[in-house]
Amino acid sequence: MQLIRLRIENDAMEVAYYPVDDQAATAHFLIAYNPKQGIGENLENIKVRLAGLKFEAAILENGLDYSFSDTIVGVNYDRIDVGLALTNMLNIPVVSQTAVDRDGLIKAVKTKTAYLKWHLDYYGQYQGVRNNGQEAMLTVGNGYFGLRGAYLESHADDNNYPGTYVAGIFDQETTKIKDHDVVNEDLVNLPNGQFMTFGVDHQKPFTITPHNVQDVYRSLDLKTGILTVTMLIQLASGHILQVKSQKLANMHDWHRYAIRYQITPLNFSGTVQVYSELDGSVVNGNVSRYNVFDQQHLQTLGLESQTNEMYLSGQTKTSHIDYTFGANLTSPDVDTTKAVKLTTEPQKTKQVVSLPVQANQTYTFDKNVVITTSNVKGAKATPVTASAELKQASFDDTVKSSLTYWHQCWHDADIKVKGDITSQRLLRVNVFQSFVSAAAIESGQLDASVGARGLHGEAYRGHVFWDEMFILPFYTLHRPALAKQLLLYRYRRLPAARQNAKEAGYAGAMYPWQSAQTGDEQAQFVHLNPITDTWDPDNSRLQRHVSLDIAYNVWAYYHATHDTDFLAQYGMELLLSIAAFWISKAEYNPDTDRYDISGVMGPDEFHENYPNSKKPGLKNNAYTNLMVAWLFNTIAHLRSKISNADYQKAASAAEFNSDLTNQMNTISHKLTLEINRSGIIAQFEGYFDLPTLDFRAYRQKYGDIARMDRILKAEGKTPDAYQVAKQADALMAFYNFDVPTVQKLIEKLGYQLPKEYLTHNIQYYLERTTHGSTLSRIVYAVLNQLDDNYDQAWTLFSEALFSDYYDIQGGTTAEGIHLGVMCATLLLATRNFGGVSVLGDHLQIAPKLPDQWTMIKFKHTFRQTHYTFVIDHTKVTVTADKAQPLSIAGKDYQLKADKPLTVVYHH
Ligand code: BGC
Repeated sequence: MQLIRLRIENDAMEVAYYPVDDQAATAHFLIAYNPKQGIGENLENIKVRLAGLKFEAAILENGLDYSFSDTIVGVNYDRIDVGLALTNMLNIPVVSQTAVDRDGLIKAVKTKTAYLKWHLDYYGQYQGVRNNGQEAMLTVGNGYFGLRGAYLESHADDNNYPGTYVAGIFDQETTKIKDHDVVNEDLVNLPNGQFMTFGVDHQKPFTITPHNVQDVYRSLDLKTGILTVTMLIQLASGHILQVKSQKLANMHDWHRYAIRYQITPLNFSGTVQVYSELDGSVVNGNVSRYNVFDQQHLQTLGLESQTNEMYLSGQTKTSHIDYTFGANLTSPDVDTTKAVKLTTEPQKTKQVVSLPVQANQTYTFDKNVVITTSNVKGAKATPVTASAELKQASFDDTVKSSLTYWHQCWHDADIKVKGDITSQRLLRVNVFQSFVSAAAIESGQLDASVGARGLHGEAYRGHVFWDEMFILPFYTLHRPALAKQLLLYRYRRLPAARQNAKEAGYAGAMYPWQSAQTGDEQAQFVHLNPITDTWDPDNSRLQRHVSLDIAYNVWAYYHATHDTDFLAQYGMELLLSIAAFWISKAEYNPDTDRYDISGVMGPDEFHENYPNSKKPGLKNNAYTNLMVAWLFNTIAHLRSKISNADYQKAASAAEFNSDLTNQMNTISHKLTLEINRSGIIAQFEGYFDLPTLDFRAYRQKYGDIARMDRILKAEGKTPDAYQVAKQADALMAFYNFDVPTVQKLIEKLGYQLPKEYLTHNIQYYLERTTHGSTLSRIVYAVLNQLDDNYDQAWTLFSEALFSDYYDIQGGTTAEGIHLGVMCATLLLATRNFGGVSVLGDHLQIAPKLPDQWTMIKFKHTFRQTHYTFVIDHTKVTVTADKAQPLSIAGKDYQLKADKPLTVVYHH
C-alpha cells in the first residue's frame, strides 16, 4: 500500500512518504508551522508538499488516547482531529499507529474507511453560524418531526439553536412595521423537549458556553440514525466528567424520540443531579433577519408533572393546532419516580433527580419524548393521548425501530460508490437527510410536503417551493409511495390554486411560489429596503413556472410508476387545471402569429422585470414557454392512458372543455422563443438588449459575487438591467428532460437550432451566472455532463455535493439544509454518472462514471420492477425481479427475471 506517516508535534509536522509500506521512505519532510495560521491551515501545507505523490492512506503516529476518535493530536495547547481534517483534504483514510499495531495495516485501513463512509463527525466546539450549520447537518428526525442536532444542554442563544419542527405545522403572525401590516406564516418551532443537563452536588446546573467544554465529539451514524455526542467537561469547581448522549427518532412510531444520557464522574465521588425539561417558551428565532417580526407562535395551555413523567400542552396562536409533548425519565441507577418537580417558570415543566455517584462509574438516564399534534389525520393531542404513547416508549424500542427502518432504507436507496470516501459519505448524508425530511409523510396521515430547507431550520419559513422538482424524482425512484403523498399535498391545494388564479384574473390553477398550510401565496409582496427605508415590491411570486414544475412531478411520477389510478383520480385534474391557467395566460400576437406569455419570472431571481418598465415580470421566459409547450403535448399523450370516463371526470372538475383542448393544441406549437443567430436561447424576450457586466472587475472588488443582486442594489443599480443570472434559467428544460426531447420541443415550436448549440448555450449562460442559489451548480453540472464536458461537470457536482457540509453560502446552512440540491446530487449520481435514464419507456443505460469513482451501485424501482445496477468503467451489471427490455450503451437487451446481465461497454 502506498502511504504516508505523520507525526504532528508542537514545533513542526513530520511527514514521510512510503511508495511501498514495508520499505524505506522515499521522501521525508519536516514542515514548520506558519505561526500566523491555525493548525487546520497549516495542515494544508502537507497537501502542498505531497503534491503529485500517490498514496492511499495515512498513519498518524502520535494520536491521543480518546474513546471517540484515535486521530486527535494536541498541538500548542490546541487539539485537532487530524484524521477528520486530512480525510476532508486528501480524501484518504487516516489510521492511528495504535490501530495498525492492533489490527494490522490492511484491516485498520479497511475499518476506518468503512467508518468514514457511514458517519458525519465533528470534533471540537464551534460557535455562531458555524455551529448552527452543524446542528442542521446533525438533525435527526423521521419526516413527522425534525430535531436539530443542538447540544441537549443548550437553550437558544447566539451559538445554539435546538429547534423542533413538525411537518405541516405553520402559524401566521402579523407585525406592524412602519404602518404596514406584514403577515408571515412560519413553520413553527415547537417546544424543546430535548433539553437535559446535569449538576454536581446541587450546584448550578451545567449550561453550554463557548469555553466550558474541554472536548467534544459529535457523530451521526447514518446506518443507525443515532447521533452521539461525547463531552469531556471540567467545571469551575474542578469536577471533571464525561457526558455522553445518544439521540434518535423513532422511525416506526414516529411520535417518539429517545435520548440516552450517560454521566461518568472522572475525578470525584459525591452527588449528581440530572435535569430534564419540556420548554414551551421557545419562539422562532433561527433566522436573525426575521427577528423584527413577531416570531411567537406558541401558547402554552397546560403543564403536568407526575412521578417521572411530565406533559406540556398548547396551541399554535392563529392556526390553532393542538400539541402535547410528554417526556419521562428512567434510569437503572436510581428510582426516577421520586424525581422532583421543579416549577419555576410559567411555560416549562422541569424535573430533577439526584443520586450519589462514585468516580469512574457510568450512570445512565433515558428520556423518552413524545410529540402529539392535532394536524395528524384522526389524531388528538392531549395529555391522555401523549401518556398512552409514552407508556409504550423505550429507548431500546426506538433504537430497534431506527435500525429496522434504516436497514431497509439503505437496502432500497443507498448509492454506493467506490474510490472516493468523501463522495460516498456525503451522498449518504444526503440520502439520510432526505428521509429525515419526509419519511412519515408516506403514511398518508400528514398533509405536508417537503420544504426547501427540510425539517432542519427556519429559512424561507419552512415553505414549499419548486424545489420539489429537484427532490421528488429521488423519492419516485426509491420510495414511489412517498412521492405520491407529496403530490397529494399539491392536489389538496388545487382549490386554493384555483382561487389564486381567479384573484389574479386567470382561469385554472395557479400554484403559489411559496406554499405552506393552505396553499395561498406566502411570498411577500413588499420588502422594506433598509438602505432607502422604502417598501420595495417583491415580485418573486411571478415565478409562475412553479405550476409547471408541479405538473412535471405529476408526469414524472406517473411515468416511473404507471400508477394509472393516481393519474385518473388526481393527476389528470391537476394537469388540466394547470393547463387551463396557462391557456388563459397566453396571448395571441397577430404580428408574429404566435402566442406570448408575459408578466412572469423564470427561475433566475435576479430578473424580476424590465429596467425602465413599471410592469412587473418579463415576457416569453424560455423555460416557462418550453414547459408550457411540453405540458400541452403531454396532456394529449396522457389522455389515452386513462379511460374516457375518468378523463371526462377530471376535465369536468378542472372545467376543461373541448374548446380549451383546441386552444391548447394550437398554442402548443405557437409559443414564442427568442433565439439568436448563434443559437443562444434568450432567457426572456429582450435579454440580448441588456448590457453585460464586467464580472472580473466585480470579482476583484468584492471577491464573492454570488449575490450580485445585493451588490448591485447597494451600488444603486439593479440586476434587472444586466445579463447576470443567479441560477440556471433558460436551460432548465435540459435538466428536466433529455436533449432530444427539448430539441424536439423547440423544433415543434418552429425554431431551428444550429449544430453545437448546446455547448454554446452552456458556455454563454455559465459566463453570466453567479450561482447565488445552491440549485444552480447542480443544473450546470448536469448540463455539462450532457455536453460531455466532464471536468466542469465534476467540479460543479462536487461543489454542489459539499454545499451544505461546507456551508458554501457562508451561514445559510445554519438556517436549514438545502434539500433541493441534496436530492439533486443523488439523481445526478445515478442518472448522469451512472447513466441510468428512466425518461423512456424502458431503461436506457449509458454510463459516464467520473474518473474519481471506480464503481457505483444502486437500485431503482421503475414501473413495479426492482432493478439493481452495478456499474464500473468498463461494464454494467443489471439485475431485475421481472423480465424487461432495456438498452445499454445504445444496444437493446432482454433482461430475464432475477438473472444478472453483464454488458461490456466503452465510452
Ligand atoms: C432560489 C429558488 C429556490 C429558493 C428556495 C432561492 O434562493 O433562487 O430557486 O426555490 O431559494 O430554495
